Amino acid sequence: MPEIYGLNLRKILKMRIIKNIAAIFLLSTTSILIFSCGNNQGTEKVEAPAISANDTAAVEGKITLTLEGNDLMKYNKKELRAKTGVTIRLVLVHTGKIPKNAMGHNVVILKEGTDVSEFVNKAASAVGTDYIPESHKDKIIAHTRMIGGGEFDAVEFAIDKPGSYVYLCSFPGHSAIMRGILIVEE
Ligand code: CU
Repeated sequence: MPEIYGLNLRKILKMRIIKNIAAIFLLSTTSILIFSCGNNQGTEKVEAPAISANDTAAVEGKITLTLEGNDLMKYNKKELRAKTGVTIRLVLVHTGKIPKNAMGHNVVILKEGTDVSEFVNKAASAVGTDYIPESHKDKIIAHTRMIGGGEFDAVEFAIDKPGSYVYLCSFPGHSAIMRGILIVEE
């Protein structure tokens, strides 16, 4: 059926243009194009690139969230977003120059209902374990390493329950400013 075929071609071309434009502006963008033909009819299912305000890219049930920390003791995002059940690859980049012992950053994602003040207090004294308190490990969903200027680290995890999860830097004194919410939706 030439008309349907022509329509599909136009759609595919349009998708390619969108993809090219997206690739220019984003670090990574993915589109999933599923194209299948039955005996008598062509069916097409096009899924647009899943891009949120957080520069995330969805690739077959996996998303990458990038968070930056700097020498001014700040994250670049107060909010991250993800979906339940997908593998979340969280990348922390320290864009500064100050070494770990003076301006170390990590990201710790806490379980819902955690007493954040209590956790932070315990973390501050956990020098030997890079400010990850052994006594409160059960409150942590995931965390990166503690890193210094110019370094990065990544951690992968998944969350099955929709909710709002606090993330913070557990370096002493940082979490008052270096804190945000990971919103996980169905
Ligand atoms: Cu920090």
